[in-house]
Amino acid sequence: MNREDQITIIVGAQWGDEGKGKITDLFAEQADVVVRFQGGNNAGHTIVVNGQTYKLHLVPSGVLYPKATAMIGSGVVVDPRVLLDELHSLENRGIHPRLLVDERAHVILPYHIAMDEGLTEFQGALAAGSTKRGIAPVYADKMYRHGIRLGDLVDPPLFHEKLEKAYAFNVGILKNVFGKTWDVTAEAIEQEYLGFGQQLKPYLADTSRELLAAVKRGERILFEASQGMSLDVDHGMYPHTTSIHTTAGYVACGTGVGLNSRARILGVAKAYVTRVGVSPFPTEIEGELAHTIREAGQEYGTTTGRPRRVGWLDLVQLRQAVRVNGCTDIAIMKLDVLSGLPEIKVAVGYTAHGKRIDEMPASLSLMRSAAPVYETLEGWTLSRDQLNTIIAQGFQALPGPIQQFVTFIEERIGCRISVISLGPERHETLFR
Ligand code: IMP
Repeated sequence: MNREDQITIIVGAQWGDEGKGKITDLFAEQADVVVRFQGGNNAGHTIVVNGQTYKLHLVPSGVLYPKATAMIGSGVVVDPRVLLDELHSLENRGIHPRLLVDERAHVILPYHIAMDEGLTEFQGALAAGSTKRGIAPVYADKMYRHGIRLGDLVDPPLFHEKLEKAYAFNVGILKNVFGKTWDVTAEAIEQEYLGFGQQLKPYLADTSRELLAAVKRGERILFEASQGMSLDVDHGMYPHTTSIHTTAGYVACGTGVGLNSRARILGVAKAYVTRVGVSPFPTEIEGELAHTIREAGQEYGTTTGRPRRVGWLDLVQLRQAVRVNGCTDIAIMKLDVLSGLPEIKVAVGYTAHGKRIDEMPASLSLMRSAAPVYETLEGWTLSRDQLNTIIAQGFQALPGPIQQFVTFIEERIGCRISVISLGPERHETLFR
C-alpha cells in the first residue's frame, strides 16, 4: 500500500470549526485506527449520519464506524467526567467504541476550569476568549511538571502525592492572584477522581506502542486534529490561540509514534472563515451579511454555543496553513452556504502600516492594523436538487463560478483542493 494511503492526517486550516468532523468521518470508513493527538474538550465536532446529528468533544469522530479502533494520544488533555459522559451517551445510541486512552494524557481537574475563568478576566484584551474548559491551566501544569496524568488516577499513593502540590499551586493562584473563592477540598477531588480512574481503567493503554504495532501491521491510520492552524500556540495568532499545537507536526509528539515517511496531510478549510473568541480578524464581515452567512452555515459553537464571527476567505492565513502543516491536499467546505450571494470576496493580502503583506506576520501590532486586500469573484447558486447530478458527474458539473473559485484558491495557495463539500451529509461531497 502507498504510504499516503496508509497514513492520513486531518488538520484544521483556519480557526477550527472548518468541518473536520465530517471529513474525518468520511476517511474513517477506510481507517483501522482513528487517533486524536492534541487538545481536549474545547473541541467540538458535528457529524450528521442518516439525518442524525452527533456532537463529539473528546472521543475521535471516527468512532461512528465501529470497525475502527479509536485512540486518544498522550498529547490530549482529558476531562474524565466529559469522556465518561460521552461514552455513556454513545452507548445509549447503540455505539460501543473500541477506545484506548493513553495513560500519559494529562487530566483536567476542577481547579483548572476555575483557573480558566480567572485567567480570561486577568488577561483582558490579551485573552483568547477561551472555551473555559481548563485547557490553558492543564497544559501549563504539564509544563510546570506537576500535572496529573490519567495513569496517576489508578495509582492512589502517587495521585495523592502529586495532587497535594498541584492543588496548592492552582488554588493559591486562584485565591491570591485572581481573588476567587474556592471551597472544593483536595480530599473531595481525590475521592471523585479515583472513582473516575476505576471507570476509565479498562480504556487505559500505552497508545504509542499500540499505534506503532498497528502501523507495522500495515493498518490504515487516521490522525484527527482539533482546533485549527491559527490557534496553534507557536504558529497561530499568539496570544489569541489555544495552548497546544494544532498542526500536523505535533502528530509524532502527541502520539509517541515518529512519522518517518510521507503521509497525506489534508487541511480542512471553509469557503469563508469563522472565529469564536478574540483576535484580530482582518476579513471579518459585520451586519446583515454576517447574519445571513451565520444562519445559513449554522455558525454557532459546538462547545459553547457562542455565535461565531464570520468573514471572507483569507488566503494569507490559508497559505500559512498549507506551509506550516505541509498540506498535500485541501478540503474546501460549505460551498452551499454561500449560495445566492451575488459576489464572493477573497483576501489575497493585507495592508498594514502602509505596507503590503502577503505572508502572515508574527507581530500582533501589525495584525491589529491589517486591512484586507480583496479580489471579488462571481457568486453562485446551488440547490440540493443539483447535488446528485454534480456528485455523479464530477467537478465539471459544478456551477462555473464554483469551479473558478476552487481553481483561484488552488493557484494562490499552491495546494490541490481534492475534496469539495457541498452539504453536511456524508454523500454531499465531491472527490477529485
Ligand atoms: P481554549 O482552547 O479553550 O483555551 O481557547 C483558546 C482559543 O481557542 C479561543 O479563542 C477559543 O475560542 C478557541 N478554540 C478552542 N477550541 C476551539 C475549537 O474547537 N473550535 C474553534 N475555536 C476553538
